[in-house]
Amino acid sequence: MKVGVPKETAAGETRVALVPEIVRKLTAKEFEVTVESGAGEGSMLSDALYEDAGATIGDDVWTSDVVVKVAAPSDDEIAKLGKDTVLIGFLGPLSAPKTTQALADAGATAFAMEAIPRISRAQSMDALSSQSNVAGYKSVLVATNHLGRFLPMMMTAAGTVPPAKVLVLGAGVAGLQAIATARRLGAQVTGYDVRAAVAEQVRSLGAQFLELEAGKGAEGEGGYARELTDEEKQAQQRELADKIATFDVVITTALVPGRPAPRLVSAESVKKMKPGSVIVDLAAETGGNCELTEPGKTVVKHDVTIMSPLNLPASMAEHSSSLYSRNVQSLLELLLGEDGEINLDFDDEIVAGACITRDGEIVHAGAKKTVEAAAGSASDGAAAEPAATTEPATGAPPAQQDMPPAPASEPEPEPEPAAAPAPAPAERADED
Ligand SMILES: NC(=O)c1ccc[n+]([C@@H]2O[C@H](COP(=O)([O-])OP(=O)(O)OC[C@H]3O[C@@H](n4cnc5c(N)ncnc54)[C@H](O)[C@@H]3O)[C@@H](O)[C@H]2O)c1
Repeated sequence: MKVGVPKETAAGETRVALVPEIVRKLTAKEFEVTVESGAGEGSMLSDALYEDAGATIGDDVWTSDVVVKVAAPSDDEIAKLGKDTVLIGFLGPLSAPKTTQALADAGATAFAMEAIPRISRAQSMDALSSQSNVAGYKSVLVATNHLGRFLPMMMTAAGTVPPAKVLVLGAGVAGLQAIATARRLGAQVTGYDVRAAVAEQVRSLGAQFLELEAGKGAEGEGGYARELTDEEKQAQQRELADKIATFDVVITTALVPGRPAPRLVSAESVKKMKPGSVIVDLAAETGGNCELTEPGKTVVKHDVTIMSPLNLPASMAEHSSSLYSRNVQSLLELLLGEDGEINLDFDDEIVAGACITRDGEIVHAGAKKTVEAAAGSASDGAAAEPAATTEPATGAPPAQQDMPPAPASEPEPEPEPAAAPAPAPAERADED
């Protein structure tokens, strides 16, 4: 099977879909890998390293049997795809209707990493988790960098400094990693989520769990949270407002698949925080969890720094690429037939679930609904984007928080994050 690795062209995208270590493993099997010159530059990977690993360096990557990407391709790139070429990448099925439509129009067979069902057999392909893990870790470092306070307690001859208080709102993959990272740095950490099962996971990391009445037990389908009702949302914001004021750092990661990010931190809450406090909003790509968030920017409001980086994983390209690459390797191996050629078994739950376009059709229910909603808005004269999205104009990476549809079978419990919680992504993170 011939695999092509293009150089990523989206603004700020430093990652690459395959690293040499994985190329070596693939070329040891029945894969031939061609890498576009410079594809690994952003991840500190030279062409020579790829050649050593058995890849060919060349421009002819778009007509391979499979093209593997990180960010969604631009229109120009979609035009270069071969007639029978399969595309793999973060394609934004629930956030990038124009990309989905363009792929369908081009007749491409496209697999979205976000749409891989989150079942145990697909854990090694779970790129949402691998990249969310990076984002959760980095969010704490970014916050710390902007905080004029220590995270750990410091007992010095010049006096004792109490530990900083960190609140993590939304304790899924990114949130749990943020909690673990802030704990490692010695902060006093509190986590919060609407899913009841999360409380124990938060506590197992040595953090406190914030119990609120509003939205309690708001489990949705497939292990995700459901969207709260309007009454629940208001009650949640009210309850949170007083609590938030007591924290030095607030990291928000709350998402609901295919919906705008839930608003958890009101402008009023920000006003109540101590001057010098920091908010890092990881939900910026779908509108943000904080009312004062300006996606992609760092702003100071009421003496509180509010940061909303759009692609934190790109700021740690070496490890982000390496983890993503293993996710891609697992998917490629699933698509490899016994004869060493590509074999797409659409009876396989993972292959069927991850495929968003095929034979000129949009075959993923969520992606189809998103395209129809965008077309409806356009014909109503509104912006042609669905509520939960900020589709990049030029093939920039989609919001990583695109969630897969509820898998047909029950999702497995997330790998235990206690010791080193496991493991999301678009324009270069704002971390100045
Ligand atoms: N089986 C698997 O392989 C696998 C892999 C990864 C995740 N999962 C499951 O999916 C879950 C969520 O994954 P994710 O991190 O990608 O989720 P996500 O990115 O969709 O959401 C992040 C967190 O925000 C929370 N949230 C949503 N609305 C909220 C609100 N109004 N207030 C507070 N919190 C809110 C969600 O409950 C979730 O924990 C995991 O914890 C796990 O149960 C399963």
